[in-house]
Amino acid sequence: MEGSRGVTRKAGLVVLLSGKGSNLQALIEGCRAGRLFADIVLVVSNRPDAEGLIKAQIAGIPHRVLTFRKSLQSREEYDQDLARLVGSVQPDLVILAGFMQILTSFFLNSFPERVINLHPALLPEDPESDGIVLPDGTVSPVFRGAHAIRLALDAGVSHAGCTVHLVTEKVDCGQVIASSLVRIKPGDTEDSLRERIQKEEHRILPMAVQTFLQSLSQPAGAPRL
Ligand code: GRF
Repeated sequence: MEGSRGVTRKAGLVVLLSGKGSNLQALIEGCRAGRLFADIVLVVSNRPDAEGLIKAQIAGIPHRVLTFRKSLQSREEYDQDLARLVGSVQPDLVILAGFMQILTSFFLNSFPERVINLHPALLPEDPESDGIVLPDGTVSPVFRGAHAIRLALDAGVSHAGCTVHLVTEKVDCGQVIASSLVRIKPGDTEDSLRERIQKEEHRILPMAVQTFLQSLSQPAGAPRL
């Protein structure tokens, strides 16, 4: 990233997660290998049992748990606490890598255009669009939300995929940064398809983050990686 005097410095990333953290691991490895000119400065989980916390610990990355206490606080209050915690490390970019909680505008407005998400399905370039043209010329519906892989299988479409996109208040609707197609094979189950989608996620996420960081001053298009 360009500092105020044109000095290049590594970008600071915050990763929010809720589960396994295999995408956190892909980012850690991208940083280590120098493919990603960044440091992960903080990992936050909303679940104390998230395996991703162990991956952060092994990598020596500061990590915190912030659970949503439904009976004690509103979503907005949680997001205020989360924004305070994330803001304390002044990140260049916040990455939702399997963070299974919808963020309110309070959080998003605290880091405008600086929150990106990884979604296990293809998303259209035009957020208003309801369909995606697949390589075989068929049109797939858009699968948003938490059950995108199952929905793709149930719909019998030829391809699934994954997408890195900017986060907006409308779930899974922000500008696409990068995406990748995954062909659905006969006999695929949710698990077998998820496994191949995740392989693609691990490949494109570090590249998409690097592309996005480089384009922060001049927004680029959406490469198919
Ligand atoms: C990924 O498949 C991502 O698409 C979805 O949550 C999953 C997180 O996996 N949003 P992991 O915790 O990175 O292994």
